[in-house]
Amino acid sequence: MKKYFVIGNPIKHSLSPKIHNYWIGKNNLKAVYKKKKLEKRDLEKFLLDFKKNKIEGANVTIPFKKIIIPYLDKLSLEAERTQSVNTIILSNNELIGYNTDIAGFTFAIKKLNFDIENKRIFILGAGGVAPSIIFALKKLNVSEIILSNRTIQKAENLKAQFDNLKIINWGELPEFDVIINATSLGLNDEFINLDFSKVGSGKLFYDVIYNPKKTNFLKSGNKNGNIIENGQSMFIYQTLEAFKIWHGVKP
Ligand code: ATR
Repeated sequence: MKKYFVIGNPIKHSLSPKIHNYWIGKNNLKAVYKKKKLEKRDLEKFLLDFKKNKIEGANVTIPFKKIIIPYLDKLSLEAERTQSVNTIILSNNELIGYNTDIAGFTFAIKKLNFDIENKRIFILGAGGVAPSIIFALKKLNVSEIILSNRTIQKAENLKAQFDNLKIINWGELPEFDVIINATSLGLNDEFINLDFSKVGSGKLFYDVIYNPKKTNFLKSGNKNGNIIENGQSMFIYQTLEAFKIWHGVKP
């Protein structure tokens, strides 16, 4: 029986085991996928189990996406550029890190009835998922990316990592065609302290959060007749990409 895990902290609310085990069953694979809450000090020990052939693959979530990198032997191009890993596999006795969040976000945007090319994007947040979104947006040929984060230093760090990123202060609202909430604000019913009443219509409000399905941020977008989308398809598509990497089949 091949073993797969999602590691993170907290991990209680992860839906990954449900989806992976469902697809494992559908494809008649001899595998099982579990969640594992890990302390940072136990990360290295967990990874040793790969080389002892006790574990086949893992998904990586907060707070490990970046701090796992020094323990890996190789990174995919996307993982390297974003310094963010969400999927690992042992191949020829080497631990390889992938980033499937990028593909997840790209698929999610492409399936919308909204042409993002040459659009002006405003990103809120500079946490774990931000570099993947920026990388994906650049490939989608957007015209401008503006970003703001409560802790400005983290936004400045992203600016050093990616060309042509414009940083503005937390609390400012620039002109935009697409606004993306990449903060955790909304997970617990919080509001984002910005006045969206004058942004007009025809914009895209995208939230990385998918539980709750409609955050206060998306509700305010909806009110003015904008297109809204939550993070559910991004989540499912990044899961699907990880499944393909491990099992070689598309669920
Ligand atoms: P991490 O910050 O460890 O990468 P994350 O969940 O990936 O964790 O990111 C959380 C994001 O939500 C960050 O952009 C964070 O802003 P800070 O960098 O200033 O912490 C943002 N965030 C969380 N709570 C917030 C709040 N009350 N107000 C504004 N931004 C908040």
